[in-house]
Amino acid sequence: MKIFLDTADLVEIRRAADANLIDGITTNPSLVSQVAGDRDPKEIYKEICEVVDGPVSAEVVATDKDTMVAEARKLAALHDNIVVKLPLTEDGLKACRAVGTEGIRTNVTLCFSVSQALLAAKAGATFVSPFVGRIDDISGEGMQLIHQIRQVYDNYGYDTEILAASLRHPMHVVESMLIGADCATMPPKVLWQLAKHPLTDKGLDAFLEDWDKLGATI
Ligand code: E4P
Repeated sequence: MKIFLDTADLVEIRRAADANLIDGITTNPSLVSQVAGDRDPKEIYKEICEVVDGPVSAEVVATDKDTMVAEARKLAALHDNIVVKLPLTEDGLKACRAVGTEGIRTNVTLCFSVSQALLAAKAGATFVSPFVGRIDDISGEGMQLIHQIRQVYDNYGYDTEILAASLRHPMHVVESMLIGADCATMPPKVLWQLAKHPLTDKGLDAFLEDWDKLGATI
């Protein structure tokens, strides 16, 4: 499974990239606005692409097809790693098909139903991003959506990659893996939580304590 970091924070991105743990980055306009200050977001996208050698999702902010296509071209021209994120709307799907024919990779985002995911695949999306946590937030079963999309894509052989998004805790990631999502994007905090286990800490403390008794070095 590919692990993507869901952030535009370059400190966090460098930390994870230095550990060679991530395959790509997803951002959205909210995440970019949290870190941009007075910087041009396009410069931030370029910097992220220099740090991470993998897909870096950058989202359009237009809502009509033609302006989305124009924005998608500009974003894609920034760096080969850019994947253009488009919202799952009628215009977003049309823009997805249009830019896909130009060889621009796409991530159709804000997916909340299996029927939307079907149309993303029909539109030739490279990735579809079902938002698990936001469905849970309104008392739905977010993970059920990942199950259903996996089944539909497998039934019909669609090669759009399922990018499980809006993951809020390690079990969201584990369940996505078990279902067979192609990728999972998560905030830095969740990535590092994946590494934690109290028995690892306890075991390591005991090993080091015992080793200290030897007074030896390696
Ligand atoms: C994915 O591409 C989105 O940026 C993200 O996962 C949204 O997560 P949130 O619902 O926690 O904001």
